[in-house]
Amino acid sequence: MNVWLFGYGSLIWRPDIGYLDRAPARINGWVRRFWQGSHDHRGVPDAPGRVVTLVREAGHCDGMAYLLDADVVAATFDALDVREKNGYQRFDLPIDFLSGETQPGIVYVAPTGNHAYLGPAPLVEMAQQIRRSHGPSGANSDYLFDLADALRSLDVSDEHVFELELAVREMG
Ligand code: BEZ
Repeated sequence: MNVWLFGYGSLIWRPDIGYLDRAPARINGWVRRFWQGSHDHRGVPDAPGRVVTLVREAGHCDGMAYLLDADVVAATFDALDVREKNGYQRFDLPIDFLSGETQPGIVYVAPTGNHAYLGPAPLVEMAQQIRRSHGPSGANSDYLFDLADALRSLDVSDEHVFELELAVREMG
């Protein structure tokens, strides 16, 4: 069976997966937050960066859904499980499309309390951490800026992301 995978972070601008189709989409009842620590991509174990996870809260998260061919579903999830091994788990969640259609889907979420979870912090502290963090995948600030750019190109507004972007940019 083909499977829809919802992306709300790096999967939006750097999916690096094969897919049959893609479409802007939304997860209702969850919001995007820079509350997950990154020891392996945008930070290091002694100085983790901050990357996004989904938090169950009133609101929604807009992103991009990818339709995976049944033949590549297992291999794609195997690869993503390795790429996103730092606290993320696959969740089954309904994906809402702009057409009004809803489809069952898979979303990677780093749940509260996983070993790399950082949780909320004052905006300035999160911005300072993102500004100073670097990891094997590059600067944490580039991750934030790429995400903000990708959301703008989808015409998506996300106050949490855009406030952090502004705070980091203002730090110079
Ligand atoms: C995503 O872009 O949806 C994503 C975020 C974190 C881990 C895996 C995927």
